[in-house]
Amino acid sequence: MASLCLEPQERLTPASAGRIKVKNNSIYNRRMAHLLGTERERYVKKTFKSVARRYNMMNHLMTFGVDILLRKEVMRIAKLRNGERLLDIGAGTGDLSREARHTCPGAGITAADFSMEMMAAGKDWETIHRCQADALALPFSHNTFDVVVSGYLVRNVVDLDAALAEQYRVLKSGGRVVVLDTTRPRWKPLNPLIKSYFRYVIPNLGRLFTGNGEAYTYLTQSSENFISAEDLADSLRRCGFTSVTFRVRMLGTMAIHSASKRP
Ligand SMILES: C[S@@+](CC[C@H](N)C(=O)[O-])C[C@H]1O[C@@H](n2cnc3c(N)ncnc32)[C@H](O)[C@@H]1O
Repeated sequence: MASLCLEPQERLTPASAGRIKVKNNSIYNRRMAHLLGTERERYVKKTFKSVARRYNMMNHLMTFGVDILLRKEVMRIAKLRNGERLLDIGAGTGDLSREARHTCPGAGITAADFSMEMMAAGKDWETIHRCQADALALPFSHNTFDVVVSGYLVRNVVDLDAALAEQYRVLKSGGRVVVLDTTRPRWKPLNPLIKSYFRYVIPNLGRLFTGNGEAYTYLTQSSENFISAEDLADSLRRCGFTSVTFRVRMLGTMAIHSASKRP
């Protein structure tokens, strides 16, 4: 995918992001769990395009506001310092990038996403460099960033190992990666409750507040089908990362992984 980078002050509007009409086409209504490769990538793009305007509001609603605290925790773990460069990949509306800027105003922050509509729906991009880019083929040289963070990206990519390998490639030696995403809960007694919340409550909230229950069915299916926190840790190790650790949050439904590139 061609990359398109914008200066921090440049305005990104849905119109400038291009006009791709989201229709109720056939793949939209199928269970995403069966989709692979390009078909899945198209589905993911359409889904985020369709929820972009209400994405933040729904996120706060679905997580009871805990997503805000988790992004703060990501930045505490990242230990970003003034003068360092951070990449927020799958930045979406930019909440993690803004948290990075708030934590460390002297750092250079780049937000990248393949959905211009998601970035256009975010506000206050001042001093953040935005870039349209595919997580599987980042338009940055080797050893560019001190820190790479992502929030709720990795379960959406069609090739997890390729995405992690790209993050490894663009990190400087000794650089840190922090990954926030949903994970499979391990606390069995609560599983039926959590499943009901994911399968019925969230899609209905999506239908009610965004008019798009299918998109939220996708979001919950992608969480249910995603690998365990242990397996994600193994994927990070396979890609060459060291000091891999993770912590689970929100009754075991969210995980934050951190790791380093070999010095
Ligand atoms: C669930 S949203 C998360 C947004 C934001 N990081 C947050 O914390 O709220 C996932 C984002 O990842 C983006 N995304 C998914 N696959 C991608 C890919 N292969 N390359 C770049 N961005 C991708 C989507 O467009 C979407 O904006």
